[in-house]
This record gives sequence, structure tokens and C-alpha cells, in this order.
Amino acid sequence: MNWRALFKPSAKFSVLSLLVIGVVIGVIGYFATQQTLHATSQDAFCMSCHSNHSLQKELMASAHGNNPQGITVSCQDCHLPHDPIKYLIKKIIVSKDLYGFLTIDGFNTQAWLDENRKEQADKALAEFRANDSENCQHCHTRIFENQPEGMKKIAKRMHEMNFKKAEDKRKTCVDCHKGVAHFYPKG
Ligand code: HEC
Ligand code: HEC
Ligand code: HEC
Ligand code: HEC
Repeated sequence: MNWRALFKPSAKFSVLSLLVIGVVIGVIGYFATQQTLHATSQDAFCMSCHSNHSLQKELMASAHGNNPQGITVSCQDCHLPHDPIKYLIKKIIVSKDLYGFLTIDGFNTQAWLDENRKEQADKALAEFRANDSENCQHCHTRIFENQPEGMKKIAKRMHEMNFKKAEDKRKTCVDCHKGVAHFYPKG
């Protein structure tokens, strides 16, 4: 067979069958991308750039890594959106960190984190504030209305009071809860 025949539109296949093949390839492509995104979302992916930072150790020592239920909350549970479109957009923003990784002097060292912690923490907090801590609320679903019976009295009271306020006056989780996974710098 002449190899050029591969690139010629074939008379043997109807337009419809070509369309079906196209759709199948598209669907496979979509799932392949999803899988890649999933694989790159494990802690290992985050730790590939943050490997010398104490972040994971701190997480494992906190209530989110060490609790009686045996639940380990991962980086992406808190830091990446659950909505697939927003997820993709956030991925592209994380990809921008590639530039920072290559250009920031001494980025992947504990000394850099210690020195820049406040600034980095505030950037992260700004994101939680911008989406009303939606990742926290994804797991903690009974905070403001209909709190669980076992919740501490003081916690119930604070959560209830916050919920009674007008929506634009309410505080978000991270306004009251800082350092739930990492050491939060004072000052
Ligand atoms: C390609 C390297 C790289 C990867 C992979 C990476 N980061 Fe980062 N990250 C950085 C750099 C560099 C900065 C500092 C960016 C700056 O301040 O310009 C940063 C900063 C941050 C910050 C604080 C600043 C902010 O914008 O919120 C958070 C939170 C963060 N990373 C979380 C994560 C999580 C979660 C993952 C895994 C999903 C991850 N990172 C994967 C390089 C990376
Ligand atoms: C993947 C699910 C998940 C996510 C996401 C999550 N949490 Fe938690 N959280 C837990 C679990 C599990 C515990 C431990 C419960 C226990 O100790 O019995 C916990 C415990 C807590 C506690 C009580 C212990 C402490 O550290 O004081 C607070 C407060 C809290 N979470 C706030 C938050 C905030 C704020 C966010 C968002 C930044 C968040 N959580 C995100 C699952 C989650
Ligand atoms: C107005 C401040 C405020 C806001 C907003 C707030 N909390 Fe709390 N929360 C508290 C206080 C105060 C406590 C009790 C002291 C403590 O355990 O840290 C508490 C306790 C908790 C606990 C532990 C409950 C227990 O019985 O041990 C969890 C979990 C929690 N909050 C999660 C959240 C999440 C998730 C959000 C956002 C949906 C949130 N909180 C919003 C003030 C707040
Ligand atoms: C339970 C939710 C939660 C988990 C899990 C979590 N983070 Fe965070 N992270 C936060 C919050 C909230 C902040 C904002 C600062 C604060 O309150 O400590 C933050 C801040 C950061 C920062 C800014 C620097 C700093 O120390 O504040 C980086 C970088 C970061 N996280 C990376 C990670 C990586 C990497 C993982 C996984 C090993 C991870 N986070 C797991 C909630 C979480």
C-alpha cells in the first residue's frame, strides 16, 4: 500500500463513521487528561517542588493528618477546587509556580519558607476568603446550620452567631481558624 493513502480522505468510510471515530477519540482523550490530572494531584506532585518544606510533616502532626478516625486530608483536598473547570484553571495557575520554582533563589529550602511564610500564608488565605473556604465546607458540612450534637458548646455558639449575621457580614472558616494544617506565623 502507498503510505500516502493514509492521509487521503477515504471513500470507503462514510462521513458518519468518521464522525463516530472522532467522538470516540475525543472521549478517550478527555478521560486520559482527567487521569493525568488526578495522578498529578497526589501529595507527591505537590511535594515534588515543596519537598524540603516542613508542610507535610506539620500536616501529619495536625488534626488533619493525625486524628482518631484515621483520615488523612491531602494537599489537594484543601487547596484545589472540586469543580472540574475551576480545577483546570487552578492547575494552570499552579503551573505558573513552575516559573517561580525555576526563578526564585533557594525556593525549595526550609530557610526560604521560614523567611517568606507570612507572605505565602496570606496569599493562600486570600484564596480561601475568595471562595468562602469552599474546600473546608466540602468536608465540614454541618457547621453553621444544624450543628452536630457532639460539637463543643463554644464552637456551636460561635458558629451559630456567625450564621445569624447577614451573608456579607459573615466570617469565613479561615478568618477564625488559622494554622489548621500548617504552622501559622504570628505578627
Ligand atoms: C512546579 C513546582 C510546584 C508545584 C508542583 C507545586 N508548587 Fe506550590 N508553590 C511553588 C512556588 C514556586 C511557590 C511560590 C510562588 C510565589 O510566591 O511566586 C508556591 C506557593 C504555594 C502556595 C502559597 C502561595 C499561594 O499562591 O497560595 C501554596 C498554598 C501552594 N504552593 C500549594 C501547592 C499545592 C497544594 C501543590 C500541589 C497541588 C503545589 N503547591 C505544587 C511551586 C510549586
Ligand atoms: C478532606 C476533609 C477535610 C477538609 C477538606 C478539611 N477538614 Fe477539617 N477536619 C477533618 C477531619 C477528619 C478532622 C479531624 C476530626 C477529629 O479530630 O475527630 C478535622 C478537624 C478540624 C478542626 C478541629 C481540629 C483543629 O485543628 O482545631 C478544625 C477547626 C477544622 N478541621 C477546620 C478546617 C478548615 C478551616 C478547613 C479548610 C482550610 C478544613 N478543616 C478542611 C476533615 C477535613
Ligand atoms: C466566628 C468565628 C468562627 C467561624 C467563622 C468558624 N469557626 Fe469553627 N470554631 C470557632 C470556635 C471559637 C471554635 C471552638 C474553639 C476551637 O475548637 O478552636 C470552633 C470549633 C470548630 C471545630 C471543632 C469543633 C469541636 O467540637 O471540636 C471545627 C471542626 C470547626 N470549628 C470548623 C469550622 C469550619 C469548617 C468553619 C467554616 C465553615 C468554621 N469552623 C467557621 C469559631 C469559628
Ligand atoms: C486542612 C487543610 C489543609 C491541608 C490538608 C493542607 N493545607 Fe496548605 N494551607 C492551608 C491553609 C488554611 C493555609 C493558610 C495559612 C494557614 O492558615 O496556615 C495554607 C497554607 C499553605 C502554604 C503557604 C505557606 C504556609 O505555610 O502558610 C503552602 C505552601 C501550603 N499550604 C502547601 C500545602 C501542601 C504542600 C500541603 C500538603 C502536604 C498542604 N498545604 C495541605 C490548608 C491546608
